[in-house]
Amino acid sequence: MNTKLVAPSLLAADFGNLQRDVEMVNQSDADWHHLDIMDGVFVPNISYGMPVIKAIAQHATKPLDVHLMIIDPDRYIKTFADLGANYLTVHYEACNHLHRTLQAIKSEGMKAGVALNPHTSVSLLEDTIQDIDLVCMMSVNPGFGGQSFIENTYQKVSDLKNLIERKNSKALIEIDGGVNATNAKKLVNTGADVLVAGSFVFKSQDPTETIKNLKEQIA
Ligand code: DX5
Ligand code: ZN
Repeated sequence: MNTKLVAPSLLAADFGNLQRDVEMVNQSDADWHHLDIMDGVFVPNISYGMPVIKAIAQHATKPLDVHLMIIDPDRYIKTFADLGANYLTVHYEACNHLHRTLQAIKSEGMKAGVALNPHTSVSLLEDTIQDIDLVCMMSVNPGFGGQSFIENTYQKVSDLKNLIERKNSKALIEIDGGVNATNAKKLVNTGADVLVAGSFVFKSQDPTETIKNLKEQIA
């Protein structure tokens, strides 16, 4: 894929002004809305639940990229399909039957994503990469926004890119955590297709401008 995508993570939005922040993403140069769903079990934090997710989905006009940081994600596949999710990403570490989960996501008409924690080797996707539409490479330990980017991610992106090419997979490579103007270009040059950015966008003075600059930087 040639066009590189930016997916602002609403985890860093102002929840008192959620509609305003969703509209900001709608009007910006961003490509997707990234939604972080945390259950307080798979990760040590709870983000937001169904009523909030529904409100976001109602106002969002761009594709919904849903990142499930929850145990037993199969229970919610149908719910997110009904909400209009375009990409549904589950964690490798949360799935006992990953192949079955991927098929279930696709049978509901969504694109299937798999997220890898920083400690999880890319080689574990050797036998599923052809069934995956998106690999969400965690560049921080999931659970919180605003953490520092883990430098080992570059090596993993390059390993993943090789695996995708070797297996003739169409999977997109998404980077999630600590993305900013310092690492964006290098990530894309290493093989990334989609950059998730939370704090870097929403904590900036002018989020619309920050998204625009990020897009220009990786174009
Ligand atoms: C972390 C989430 C990320 C997070 C990114 O668990 O999956 O999507 O919101 O936030 P930043 O860009 O602030 O690291
Ligand atoms: Zn995420």
